[in-house]
Amino acid sequence: MTKRITLADFLAAETQGQSNAAALSALTLSIADACVDIAALVRHGELAGVLGAAGQENVQGEEQKKLDIIANDVFIDKTQASGQLAGIASEEMDNHHPIPEGVARGNYLITVDPLDGSSNIDVNGATGTIFSVLPYAKESPPDDADFLQAGNQQVLAGYCLYSSATMLVLTFGHGVAGFTLDLDQGEFVLSHPAMQVPAQSREFSINAAYAAHWHAPIKRYIDECVQGDAGPRGENFNMRWAGSMVGDVHRILCRGGVFLYPSDARMEKAGKTGKLRLMYEASPMGWLMEQASGKAHTGAQNILEVIPTSLHQRVPVMMGSASEIDRLMEYHST
Ligand code: AHG
Ligand code: MN
Ligand code: MN
Repeated sequence: MTKRITLADFLAAETQGQSNAAALSALTLSIADACVDIAALVRHGELAGVLGAAGQENVQGEEQKKLDIIANDVFIDKTQASGQLAGIASEEMDNHHPIPEGVARGNYLITVDPLDGSSNIDVNGATGTIFSVLPYAKESPPDDADFLQAGNQQVLAGYCLYSSATMLVLTFGHGVAGFTLDLDQGEFVLSHPAMQVPAQSREFSINAAYAAHWHAPIKRYIDECVQGDAGPRGENFNMRWAGSMVGDVHRILCRGGVFLYPSDARMEKAGKTGKLRLMYEASPMGWLMEQASGKAHTGAQNILEVIPTSLHQRVPVMMGSASEIDRLMEYHST
C-alpha cells in the first residue's frame, strides 16, 4: 500500500526551509477546515436547512442563496482565526472584511468565492469554494486597494469541490496537488499528486445557450469543434457544462480540453465584460491551470497579468490544455 500522506504531511514537505512555512501551513489548514465545514453543510442539504434563497442580493446584483451567506461566514470565521490574515475579500461582501480587534493579524490577504455554482445548490449538483492568497507587507490594516494585485502575485491558490467526493486542489507555485476528504478521519489525504492537464483532449465546456451573442473567435472555435470529423479539426468533440466553474474546471484539469466563459455582445450591452470575477474565480483557477502545464487567457491578455481595478471586476475566461488555448489566442489575434 502506498503511504498515506495527509494535508499536514504534505504542507510540512512543501514549505520546508521557507521562512513563512509555519504561517502558510497554518493558513492552508484553516482554509481546509472551513471547506470541511462547508462540505458538511452541503452534504446535509435540506436536512441542515441551508437550501433556498436568502432574500437579498450581493453587490453584483445576484440573488444570494442561504448557503452563499453561511459559507461566507464559515470561511471568514475559520480563516481569520489562523492569525495569518490581514483582510478577506469575498464575492458576498461589497468591501473587504477587516480582521477584528483582538484577533491576530498576519501578512496575507485572501479573496474567496465561498460557494461557487450557487444555482446548483438546490438541485444537489456540484458546487465549490475558490480561494486566492496574496502577500501583504504593511503594518497598518489594508484597504480594498491593497487587494488589487495581479494573479502572478499569488502565493497560494486553490479550490474545494463538493461533489460525490470532497476534493481540495491547491498550488503554492510548485505544481498542483489534489486531496480527497477522508470522511471517517475528517482529514484531507493526497490522492492526486502532481496534477497535469492532458495536452491533448477533444472536450470543451461552455454555456452554448449564449451562442447567438458570441464574438467571432469563440464562434469559429466552437463551430469547428461541432463540425466533428467532417470539419477542419478532423475529429469529433465532446461537450460538458455543469454550471459550476469548480466542477467544470476540475473536469478539464483531470481530462484536458477547454473551459470557456467569454464576454459576449449581450453582456457588453449591459456594461459587463464577461461574467466570472478576476480576483476569486479567474486568477486562482488560471494559476492552477498554468501550474498543471495548461494556459489561461482572456483573449487579450494572460489572466495572471491582468491588474485588477476593482474587487469584483469581471473578465472573459479561456483556460485548459495549452495547445487549445494557443489556438483560441490565435483566433483572437486574427
Ligand atoms: P457563483 O455561483 O459563485 O456566482 O458562480 C457561478 C458561475 C460559475 O460557477 C459558472 O461557471 C457560471 O457562473 C455559470 O454561469 P451560467 O449560469 O451563465 O451558465
Ligand atoms: Mn463562482
Ligand atoms: Mn459564489
